[in-house]
Amino acid sequence: MDKILVHGGYPLSGSIKISGSKNSALPIIAATLLTPDPCVLRRVPDLSDTNYMLQILMHLGAEVERASGTVTVKAEKVNSVAPYEVVRKMRASVCVLGPLLGRCKEATVSLPGGCVIGDRPIDLHLKGFEALGAAVRVENGNVKVFAPKLTGAVVNLQGKFGPTVLGTDNVMMAAVLAEGVTVIEGAATEPEVCDLADFLNKMGAKIEGAGTRRIIIEGVKELHGAEHDIIPDRIETGTFLVAGAICGRGITLHRVRPEHVISVTTALAQSGFNVATTANSISVSPNGAHTKPLELTTQPYPGFPTDMQAQMCALLATTEGTSVITEKVFPQRYMHVAELKRMGAQVEIEGATAVIQGVERLYGAPVMASDLRASAALVLAGLKADGVTEIRRVYHIDRGYEHLDEKLSELGAHIERVKE
Ligand code: EPU
Repeated sequence: MDKILVHGGYPLSGSIKISGSKNSALPIIAATLLTPDPCVLRRVPDLSDTNYMLQILMHLGAEVERASGTVTVKAEKVNSVAPYEVVRKMRASVCVLGPLLGRCKEATVSLPGGCVIGDRPIDLHLKGFEALGAAVRVENGNVKVFAPKLTGAVVNLQGKFGPTVLGTDNVMMAAVLAEGVTVIEGAATEPEVCDLADFLNKMGAKIEGAGTRRIIIEGVKELHGAEHDIIPDRIETGTFLVAGAICGRGITLHRVRPEHVISVTTALAQSGFNVATTANSISVSPNGAHTKPLELTTQPYPGFPTDMQAQMCALLATTEGTSVITEKVFPQRYMHVAELKRMGAQVEIEGATAVIQGVERLYGAPVMASDLRASAALVLAGLKADGVTEIRRVYHIDRGYEHLDEKLSELGAHIERVKE
């Protein structure tokens, strides 16, 4: 197993290109199951999660070709059963349910297991399928959905913690082939939902309102093949912005969508960093003055993303003063805090709130990655820390960041990957 060593204290400068979005690519790959025609997806990031999703599709009968960032999928025939061995590695495998239900009118998918970032139910996905006329059975660890016919309906997907991203995706993917009109109220408005809707519309679907809380889908009889470029990854963008803030002299990120990361750039500007954007690049640099602590609350888009909470904790750990972060999407998502404390951070968790007392310096230490974004936070803290930070279980990083260590090296970080 690999581990990553970060030698702290080297300033970052220069520029890198941001990869395609993991959380767009996963449901969009699943959506190719909706047509027997070939689909071509470009800028698919080379990650273990996208590779798992392609393996699931192959298991379901699709032919898959991958040449660097371009993936071609032809799902001429599909079977509708995805067993535990195939789906267990990734919670997002659940998003094959919607397209399988749409295409085959039935699907059996093993239920996603527990997740360190908190309880991750799929009750809202199932509520949506039921509204379209599907029967849902949960037995032997599998969820089975089937419907002789799907019929458009009005369904509200607003949950206790806000809207659901993959739930909105799943119901949208089933509804595109339903008879009649489906209205999703309380829909997630994340850019990744819009990217999926754009792809589905290119396939011949009739979806309006993606990006708002009400999505209207007029069912069509069949979908055809399409080509699509995945949008830039806004969480990779945010993570590198924090890297630039934590120990940068000035870095520039290219191939980004600045409008997707406004909550992050606003927070960094409030803390005292210089942030400059063009249509498709963002630069961040220190402004010479003291940085300020922040009060942040994670929220569904366009609020501050839960997927940036851990990275922001790493930045605020060395920002003078008291910062407060409240997690409103996954209230227990604080696994990184214990590891950051081992590096000298002063953070107290009170319910869903982290109170961070900025310290002058962090110290390198052996730490353990617990999930994708927590791992990124440990790398960021390591860039700032005195000495060497040794991060184990880096397979979490490889799930969601394309060449993170290489991109940081390009910016001047001293970071190496070694075998344990
Ligand atoms: N929820 C329910 N019932 C459901 C579904 C969700 O109560 O049926 C709750 C969840 O427990 C959570 C909230 O609703 O409290 C939001 O969860 P959501 O369904 O939106 O999460 P998701 O769609 O499973 C995606 C991303 C996550 C990201 C969340 C929130 C993908 C593949 N995953 O998950 O990304 O944190 O939205 O923005 O798109 C990551 O990339 O590291 C990651 C975890």
